[in-house]
Amino acid sequence: MNYRITVLPGDGIGPEVCAEAIRVMNVVGEKFGHHFIWQYGLIGGSAIRETGSAYPEETHLKCLDCDAILFGAIGDPLYDNNPDAKVRPEQGLLAMRKKLGLFANIRPVRIWPDLLHMSPIKEDRVAGADLVVVRELTGGLYFGEPRELRDNGRVAVDTCLYSVEEIERIARVAFEMAGGRRKKVTLVDKANVLETSRLWRRVVTPMAKDYPDIELDYMFVDNAAMQLIINPKRFDVILTENLFGDILSDEASVISGSIGLLPSASIGDRVPLFEPIHGSYPDGAGKNVANPLATILSAAMLLRMGLHLTAEADAVETAVEQTIRAGILTWDLNRDNPRSTSDVGTHVAHVLMGG
Ligand code: IPM
Ligand code: MG
Repeated sequence: MNYRITVLPGDGIGPEVCAEAIRVMNVVGEKFGHHFIWQYGLIGGSAIRETGSAYPEETHLKCLDCDAILFGAIGDPLYDNNPDAKVRPEQGLLAMRKKLGLFANIRPVRIWPDLLHMSPIKEDRVAGADLVVVRELTGGLYFGEPRELRDNGRVAVDTCLYSVEEIERIARVAFEMAGGRRKKVTLVDKANVLETSRLWRRVVTPMAKDYPDIELDYMFVDNAAMQLIINPKRFDVILTENLFGDILSDEASVISGSIGLLPSASIGDRVPLFEPIHGSYPDGAGKNVANPLATILSAAMLLRMGLHLTAEADAVETAVEQTIRAGILTWDLNRDNPRSTSDVGTHVAHVLMGG
């Protein structure tokens, strides 16, 4: 089969980690008889520099005209400390999510037994933890209107806004995901304070009746932040709104030993997108030191969820597991004998080829 994949390498280490995922996917193609057609688009800081827009129309058209999107990272320190910047790299990511209708962000957190010792949390707490954050991605504080400065810049307003429809469609994703797992959904919110959170509970609670084999429970976000560290095994599927999901998924990534291990999928009405959850790591850019495994595992999610190629996705994950077991790892996971980004990618590709 032929598959057209749009690659958006983005900023910082994005291009390097994407190159390793592409290396691995091309081996998948050889081994399983697929042909991946790669087309590239600009996004983020690099797009601003070349076109003035963080998500150019040309990139959007490429994203619409493909089977799946592989995304690297976005973010440039040039803009981080400049609150007055007119166009920001992050706007590209948010515009893309909105325009492609990518409302569900799926972030699995998996513990690799060979890396238990790398977790900053005690091994007996994290061993066996296996959870997924289902984060709403196109609503809430990230997009609500009004958002503006008032009173000559002395007051700022953001708006947290959710509709019943927005909550229902993401909740459905979470319930269905739990069906293929340990059958438990935890709705994480701040319903003791926020009106939007109370709406989430009113909408999600009756939906559970449609999924009689799924257990639904509730947790306030401040407690969830604590439970993720002291008892991560209690979670199966965490269902939550945009900002809480952003924060909790970074926190959850820590228990696995490195944020450089965590892939994600963003799905919606159109083309699905796959990306590592880490950012652009500007200090590591161009140095061949960044961990490519999160992007390679995102490619595995792309194969599984985007193209429905299960055996191919399993093969990539097994090759990653063996690479981890062999200790062929970048500095974040191997302090004594760190390997380069391309060494790790090449090793995964080699294992996959059966060599
Ligand atoms: C993420 C990132 C983005 C977000 C940033 C870069 C806008 O942190 O994908 O989690 O906040 O959603
Ligand atoms: Mg984030």
